[in-house]
Amino acid sequence: MQIQIGLLGCGTVGAGVVSLVRRRADRVADMTGLRPVVKTILVRDTQKDRGVSFIDEQLTTSPEDILADDDIQIVVETIGGIEPAKTYILEALSRGKHVVTANKDLIALHGPEILQTAAANGVSVLFEAAVGGAIPLVGPLKENLTANEVTDLKGIINGTTNFILTQMTTRHIDFAEALQMAQDLGYAEADPSSDVDGLDAARKLVILASIAFHTEVHLSDVRVEGIRHITATDVRYADEAGYVIKLLAVGRDRDGELTLAVRPTLIPKNHPLAHVSDAYNALFVRGDAAGDLMFFGRGAGRMPTASAVVGDIIALVRNLKLGFVASSPNGSAGERKPVVERE
Ligand code: NAP
Ligand code: HSE
Repeated sequence: MQIQIGLLGCGTVGAGVVSLVRRRADRVADMTGLRPVVKTILVRDTQKDRGVSFIDEQLTTSPEDILADDDIQIVVETIGGIEPAKTYILEALSRGKHVVTANKDLIALHGPEILQTAAANGVSVLFEAAVGGAIPLVGPLKENLTANEVTDLKGIINGTTNFILTQMTTRHIDFAEALQMAQDLGYAEADPSSDVDGLDAARKLVILASIAFHTEVHLSDVRVEGIRHITATDVRYADEAGYVIKLLAVGRDRDGELTLAVRPTLIPKNHPLAHVSDAYNALFVRGDAAGDLMFFGRGAGRMPTASAVVGDIIALVRNLKLGFVASSPNGSAGERKPVVERE
């Protein structure tokens, strides 16, 4: 039996999802008896070359071809931004479809509403790809580390800025040239200012902190500074002094008081985070039982991100097999924790 998927958007990430679903369909069918198949794909321009050949998939410019199709059980959103992605996701959930999304803007800003809509309709919404590209972060914080009080999150969670800073350091090219390369490689957001001004990392920190610290976190809680003002001279001086500049995201919970910040930081060259280069991401997590953990991997790009999206799709197919709904809210409980500015 087939599990039919509707894909909203088919750019860098969506095209990777199409090819990876095809690659893994046999294995999933062997494991579960259910074969995931991308049936319909929503785009703006059906004639555009997407670096993937379409076999049985239908391209459409009408969202209703997905949202009103009762055979489609899973909707995957890779459009990005708030609208129309939000409307489509809420509509899909209201019509009883499970949703997978890579959209951190939406989850950071409207996560509670989306998760509540999913719960009210008895369906799941999964978003592993929204943070850290291929690196499993949402799943471990939500599931595997749930026995811990997590006190610290610290790391590099934006691939574009890490790529730019790496290129400026190692190849001595300027900011604009490095940004263009990051865009050509498909790392940057449609509006790259959200990467370079630190907002993309701040949104990801909102998602991670709300899960890790079991509270509702808002974007306005995060002190944000980007890398636009970092010059080749800053990078050279840092290098000569034995440091590299990295855009760090930091979240701390000290007895229920939170500190949340994204900012360029001088890191000694012998620190593990100094060796996280190009579009790689890394996150340190400290839990009271687990101690220190470090997650590392490709934080952006077509196939790394497709890996996380398709992982969520396969989790949903398994759940469909078991008749199980996995739409745990972020785990916020009680009063919102206060945010303090210590630095
Ligand atoms: P992208 O390359 O710009 O692709 C966006 C796709 O959405 C395109 O196929 C576009 O159609 C379609 N689209 C845009 N507006 C639409 C509309 N109004 N109606 C219908 N289709 C529309 O973006 P991306 O890099 O794949 O990113 C997609 C999502 O994944 C974003 O939320 C992003 O933050 C997230 N993400 C990206 C990465 C990465 O490395 N790129 C990593 C993790 C998460 P046309 O092609 O016809 O224009
Ligand atoms: N623009 C994002 C980044 C994509 O560079 O990290 C991955 O979320």
